[in-house]
Amino acid sequence: MPSSRHILTAPAWPYANGPRHIGHVSGFGLPSDMFARYQRMAGNKVLMVSGTDEHGTPIQVQADKEGVSARELADRYNQVIATDLHGLGMSYDLFTRTVTRNHYAVVQEIFLGLLKNGYVFPTTTLGAISPSTGRTLPDRYIEGTCPICGYDGARGDQCDNCGNQLDPVDLINPRSRINGEKPEFRETEHFMLDLPAFTDALGTYLRAKQGDWRPNVLKFALNLLDDMRPRAYTRDLDWGVPVPLDGWRDRSDKRIYVWFDAVVGYLSASIEWAQRTGDPDAWRAWWQDPEALSYYFMGKDNIVFHAEIWPAMLLGYSGQGDKGGTPGDLGRLNVPTEVVSSEFLTMEGRKFSSSRQVVIYVKDFLERYDVDALRYYVAVAGPENQDTDFTWSEFVRRNNDELVAAWGNLVNRSINMANKNFGAVPEAGELTDADRALLERSRAAFGAVGAELGRSRFKNAITEAFDVVRDANRYLSDQAPWQLKDDPARVASILHTALQVVDDCKSLLTPFLPTSSQKVYEMLGGTGTWSGMPEIREVSEGDEAPYPVLMGDYATDARWASLPIAPGTPLAKPKPLFKKLDSSVVDEELARLEEGGS
Ligand code: MF3
Ligand code: ZN
Repeated sequence: MPSSRHILTAPAWPYANGPRHIGHVSGFGLPSDMFARYQRMAGNKVLMVSGTDEHGTPIQVQADKEGVSARELADRYNQVIATDLHGLGMSYDLFTRTVTRNHYAVVQEIFLGLLKNGYVFPTTTLGAISPSTGRTLPDRYIEGTCPICGYDGARGDQCDNCGNQLDPVDLINPRSRINGEKPEFRETEHFMLDLPAFTDALGTYLRAKQGDWRPNVLKFALNLLDDMRPRAYTRDLDWGVPVPLDGWRDRSDKRIYVWFDAVVGYLSASIEWAQRTGDPDAWRAWWQDPEALSYYFMGKDNIVFHAEIWPAMLLGYSGQGDKGGTPGDLGRLNVPTEVVSSEFLTMEGRKFSSSRQVVIYVKDFLERYDVDALRYYVAVAGPENQDTDFTWSEFVRRNNDELVAAWGNLVNRSINMANKNFGAVPEAGELTDADRALLERSRAAFGAVGAELGRSRFKNAITEAFDVVRDANRYLSDQAPWQLKDDPARVASILHTALQVVDDCKSLLTPFLPTSSQKVYEMLGGTGTWSGMPEIREVSEGDEAPYPVLMGDYATDARWASLPIAPGTPLAKPKPLFKKLDSSVVDEELARLEEGGS
């Protein structure tokens, strides 16, 4: 493997229809940031891009509820979500939005490339109309019995029980979720993505992922191959990217389907990033170099679009579907190396729900708790491989017993003793076997923890790192430097060893805990930036209204290796790294949930 690779990190695009809660960000968000931060430290060239997903029914429906236009709603929540993600320390190279001119142009280019290669075709389908209003009924506003599994609450676009994608006409006994009436189906013209024409190409692509992808994700994706049917590329809706064809472009009732616009965002945002950084072709290294890697992070309800539809679009545009073809103007494009999907997080045994207030928003969380307390919890107890429940008592316990009592305490007592005895990092004398064993242990952890992080096994990775922290605490208790008042040379060796391991652990924990790692870096005499943080910048396209994006400079001295500490570096008295939480927090938070829920 070449030592430095181009790695696209692609976190899912949150809908701009409300603030983010911790259920959202534990799926697509924090894991992707841990991955990206690790890859940068390991010397790879990371491009992490995403943005808010601002078109389609999900936005229109919420806009209707709030009594504003779809665009106003999107503007509002784009700001809110950018602020949420900024607060979480998400190290996006660019976090943008789907209403930009650049995005429209790239979405339309992909559509045209697929059309040219014969993977998109026009058709007449049956569209659902509400008889009482005469207006189009969006797919997800129709409900009925699933023709595949018989579940009665299936939606027009998908069955949440068996996970299959549906068409509203397939539903048995369809009814409007707005007023219960039976929709009328009328002929309407649309373009379709010819998914059956990717059966071989996608099959070859997916079968090669055996052993690499999380088993649940791959199994789900492979199952999709058994039921490849054309999917509508366009919708009867006025909020979205126009269809770039004469006779369609100016129609206000036809738009590209929001999902087929959003997934293109990864590419359009890469192109926007390249333009903003002054090297318009720079995106190509992540999309066209056959050695480049790409990792997409999301919740499991997004697998279909990332493991089937987006790869099909990329293959078709590149002329690599079952019907061949030639690449479009942008050139051949890489398919995802891995679709890293997590499972769902529930909250105190219930489904997160903004409408029922079973929720804790990112903003409220960050006002009350350390950002790294959340990041730690998601890494060690998040829904990585199975649906997982967030409970406040577990959050407080892990914060206090693990983050504070193990890591915070190790940092605090090591630096405190060194400060009191020497006022600086002491020089080590001759090392004992115990010293050498601990130093070797933490040096070796870079290989072990890195291997887990590189495969998005965050739980294993942080557990390994914390084992080193625990070993270091045990080492200090065993060596008991506080009992060696008459042997300062030995005390120096012990504290030098402890501080070296604190420094190593700070590096090992940086992908998970960037904010507190920066603090430890400074406590040990580091200056400048160790963990790069995103900034909110106002940008615009030509003379259009400005919009906020997240960008950042993440090139720092941080390395995925043990870096020797320098004896003589002055050390101040340390401040506590994390807040210890009172057990009353649990009752307070549960009471908040009850109030909201009633
Ligand atoms: N907005 C979608 C959701 O929140 C995710 C879109 S991911 C993208 O479920 F790739 F399509 F952008
Ligand atoms: Zn079903």
